Amino acid sequence: MFYQPIKALNGVNLNIQQGLAAAARVFEIIDRPGEKVGESGVQAGAPDSIAFRGVGFRYGAESVLQGIDLRVRRGEVVAIVGSSGAGKSTFVNLIPRFYDVTEGAILMDGRDIRELSLKSLRAMVAIVSQQVILFNDTVKRNIAYGVERSDEEITAAAKAANAHDFIMRLPQGYDTVIGDSGLKLSGGERQRISIARAILKDAPILILDEATSALDTESEMEVQKALSNLISGRTTFVIAHRLSTIRGADRIVVLSGGSIKETGRHEELVSSGGEYSRLYAMQFES
Ligand SMILES: Nc1ncnc2c1ncn2[C@@H]1O[C@H](COP(=O)(O)OP(=O)(O)OP(=O)(O)O)[C@@H](O)[C@H]1O
Ligand SMILES: [Mg+2]
Repeated sequence: MFYQPIKALNGVNLNIQQGLAAAARVFEIIDRPGEKVGESGVQAGAPDSIAFRGVGFRYGAESVLQGIDLRVRRGEVVAIVGSSGAGKSTFVNLIPRFYDVTEGAILMDGRDIRELSLKSLRAMVAIVSQQVILFNDTVKRNIAYGVERSDEEITAAAKAANAHDFIMRLPQGYDTVIGDSGLKLSGGERQRISIARAILKDAPILILDEATSALDTESEMEVQKALSNLISGRTTFVIAHRLSTIRGADRIVVLSGGSIKETGRHEELVSSGGEYSRLYAMQFES
């Protein structure tokens, strides 16, 4: 008679311990200070210039970027090149303030972006990121995430991103729920959804971080056309491993060891015989 209750009590203790451990983790997240996305700060408008002034950044103790100076004019297309881990994604993530610089400042029209309201700053930036972020919701709501747009506009954006055809093949078309982080889609399909989202957002600053890396050559060429249309007239930061996609950039910035090693146009950098020409020669051979 005694044995079963003792065994049950033991089980209760196990449950309590598991619950405590889980609660500690949940509260760690709940207790984190939130971002102030409210309306405090200056309203941002499309800037004529974006300037990095002596920008440095570290994740904890590890320094990733140092002494970055760069001034970008409205409508310019800047390509960022460098080996894996050079800090390219980190560099572009500083613009919408996903992280704040730890040294120096980023200025838009001479004003530190930390003085701008976060909401208005982020409204100006459309991103196709290396890690596509999708929600367990319908295709339509994933494309129109954060903006109010009509069905016609959503369809037009999907067509421009070469996504319309595969969406129409889904069981409920634009109303298909795509699962946690787009689980039910292929990598290339997810990427096209996120390109459609950027097209729909129609923002003055565009960030493309390996935007076509998960696509095959054929759909890449199609999407490249859509991206070229999207880029025109916008200040664009583009990261791509395939150097063929960045040949046409107004300026190429080569990052190495966390600082800018070279800048210039494709032809200049190839003939100067530096880091870029080495990277280019390597790809050309393969
Ligand atoms: N959230 C993070 N916390 C700590 N370290 C990070 C974090 N994100 C990146 N790093 C480190 O910062 C460095 C630069 O990373 P980053 O993602 O900017 O490189 P990248 O140039 O975009 O590389 P890739 O071409 O592979 O995308 C790497 O050494 C990486 O390990
Ligand atoms: Mg990256």
